[in-house]
Amino acid sequence: MGTKRAYDEGRDLDALTRMWREVGWIDRDDDDDALGLKEFLAAAPTLVADVRGEAECAVSRSTGSIRHEATDLPLCVVAAVTTSHVGRRQGLATGLVAETLAAGVDDGAAVAALGMFDQGFYDRFGFGTSGYEHRWTFDPATLKVPVPESPPVRLGVDDAAEMHALLVRRARGHGSVVVDPVDALRAELRWTEDLFALGYRADDGRLTSFLAGSAKDEFGPYEIEWMVYEDAGGLLDLLGLLRSLGDQVGCVVLNAEPVEIQLQDLLETPMRARRAFRRGGGSEVAHEAFAEQQIRILDLRACVEAVRLQTPTVVFGLRLTDPLADLPGTPWVGVGGEYTVRFGPESTLIDGFEPGLPILDASINAFSRLWMGERPASSLALTDLLDGPAGLLADLDRSLRFPRPSAGWTF
Ligand SMILES: CC(C)(COP(=O)(O)OP(=O)(O)OC[C@H]1O[C@@H](n2cnc3c(N)ncnc32)[C@H](O)[C@@H]1OP(=O)(O)O)[C@@H](O)C(=O)NCCC(=O)NCCS
Repeated sequence: MGTKRAYDEGRDLDALTRMWREVGWIDRDDDDDALGLKEFLAAAPTLVADVRGEAECAVSRSTGSIRHEATDLPLCVVAAVTTSHVGRRQGLATGLVAETLAAGVDDGAAVAALGMFDQGFYDRFGFGTSGYEHRWTFDPATLKVPVPESPPVRLGVDDAAEMHALLVRRARGHGSVVVDPVDALRAELRWTEDLFALGYRADDGRLTSFLAGSAKDEFGPYEIEWMVYEDAGGLLDLLGLLRSLGDQVGCVVLNAEPVEIQLQDLLETPMRARRAFRRGGGSEVAHEAFAEQQIRILDLRACVEAVRLQTPTVVFGLRLTDPLADLPGTPWVGVGGEYTVRFGPESTLIDGFEPGLPILDASINAFSRLWMGERPASSLALTDLLDGPAGLLADLDRSLRFPRPSAGWTF
C-alpha cells in the first residue's frame, strides 16, 4: 500500500489534474475545469496516496451539516474518491476513505455522506444507501404553473457565494444537507457543461430562488441540477420560469424532484407525455427513481439523542456491528458494540444491554438507514443486515416515522 499524506498543491496539483482527466471527470483541454479542481482542492482537506513518489489516489472531505427532523448534526462529506489508472486495486482508495472517516470523527462530525459511483464498494466503511431521488424528464410547456410576472436575473460562476448563501438559508427538511465550502459549489458550477443559471430577487435585492444546470442544445434537454428557494412560493416561480422557456425548449430533465411536491401533479396529461417518450424510442424515460447517495453514522450517541419522537417510545438492546473494525490498519474502528437504545420524546443511548429487553442485531450500514428513516425496520430486515423479534420490528415501524429524507444537495 502506498504512503498516505496530506495533499500539497505545489507538489500534487498536476498529478491530481492528470488523474481527474484520466478518469474522465474533467475535460483534457478545458482549463476552466482544471481551475475548478484547483479551487475545490484548496477548500476541501484532501489526503493522497503515492505510488513511486507520485500521488495516484486522492480522497477529499468537506464539513457541513445534515438535518434530522429539527436537529442539525455536523456532517463529513466524503468527496472525489479517485484512483488513477496505475494505482488501481492496491487498496489505496480503501485506505484513504478509512483515514478520511477518522479525520471526520476528529473534526467532530456525527454523520458521513457521499455520492456513490456504485453500490457495494462503500459497504466496507459502514455506509448504507439513501432513499430514491425522482428524476423527471418532461416538456416544460406542459407545466400547470403561472409564469412569474417579473423577469428572472442571470447568474453564473461569479455568483457562487450568493447562491451558496441561499442554499444555506433555503427551506430545508428532514435529511437535508449543507456543504460548507463555497468553493465546492463554485467548482460544481465550473464543471457544469454549458452552465445556465437564472434566479429571482426580492425588492431589497436579496436572491430568493435560483435554478442552475446544463443547457446543451437549442431545444433541450436542459438538465437542472440545482433548484433552490427560500420558501415554497419560490419553487413555483422556478417551475413557472421553466414553463416560460418551454416556448423554445421541448425537454427538461429535473435531476431531483423537489421533496415538497409530486411533480406529476403539475404536469398536463403526464400519461400522454409518457407514452410519447416511449414511442420516441430514445434513451429518455419520463420518470426514473434511483438512489445515488449513502450515509453512515459516525457519532452514535449524538445521532440517537437527535431523535425526538411524537410516536410511541421504543426501548431495545442494540447489538451493532461495524465493518470498519474488520479493515486492517484502519485508524478508527467505528461504533460497533452493545448498547441500550431508547427512542422517545427524549432519546438516550446507554453502553451495554439492560436486562429483559428485545435485541436488535444490525450493521451500522443498516442502522444508519433505519435512523434516517430511509426504509422501515421490517423492510431492512428483509434486504439488509438487520434482524430482531417480530414484535420489536413492528414497534420500530410504528415509532420511527420520519418525513421522506432528501439531501437537496449534489456532492
Ligand atoms: C472506485 C475507485 C476509487 C477504487 O479505487 P481503488 O484504489 O482501486 O480501490 P481499492 O484497491 O481500495 O479497492 C478495490 C476493491 O473494491 C472492489 N470494488 C470496486 N467496485 C465495487 C463495487 N461496486 N462493489 C463492491 N466492491 C467493489 C474491487 O473489486 C476491489 O476489491 P478487492 O479489495 O477485493 O480487490 C477507482 O476505481 C476509481 O477511481 N474509479 C473512477 C472514479 C470513481 O468512480 N470514483 C468513485 C467516486 S464515488
